[in-house]
Amino acid sequence: MANIFEKHIASVKDFPNEGIVFRDITPILQDGKLFQEATHELANYAKKRRADVIVGPEARGFIVGCPVATELGIGFIPARKPHKLPREVERASYDLEYGSNSLEMHKDAIKPGQRVVICDDLLATAGTLRACKQLIENLGGELVGAAFYVELPDLKGREKLPDLDVFSLVQYQGA
Ligand code: PRP
Ligand code: MG
Repeated sequence: MANIFEKHIASVKDFPNEGIVFRDITPILQDGKLFQEATHELANYAKKRRADVIVGPEARGFIVGCPVATELGIGFIPARKPHKLPREVERASYDLEYGSNSLEMHKDAIKPGQRVVICDDLLATAGTLRACKQLIENLGGELVGAAFYVELPDLKGREKLPDLDVFSLVQYQGA
């Protein structure tokens, strides 16, 4: 099955910067059957992990995570970029290649003890994943897994969270 997804991920050289190969998942989204299949795979994973809720980081995590949550009939929690959420928030920061970024979640988004699976399009350095983990745990949730369309193993994202169960549809060696 992984090959079907791989064929529909576009690899775009030198985007957004020279030397970067951008893994573009929009061809999967454009194909209704394939988008549904990718959603099923992530939903099956989240079900196996007995997720109570899905967390998706802005922006592409919304696209990937929302249909997973609706397929399972469980809640979806957005982890948003700063100053977008209207009520009291928890914030976590993470490093980028240059500078840093932050994500926020509403303080009441997760009930203590809820089992959480994170869904996103891509696992690279795991900065986004670690920030989400921190938010989830600060709110009293238990991060029980993370699911991605694409993983770049050379960037060693998994190694940053060795105790976390991680699932991905496609892995690209050589980031
Ligand atoms: C991208 C991607 C992942 C993250 C992966 O998000 O969608 O969320 O980077 O990289 P990492 O594992 O090194 O954190 P980004 O915030 O760049 O863009 P988006 O708003 O389009 O999702
Ligand atoms: Mg993102």
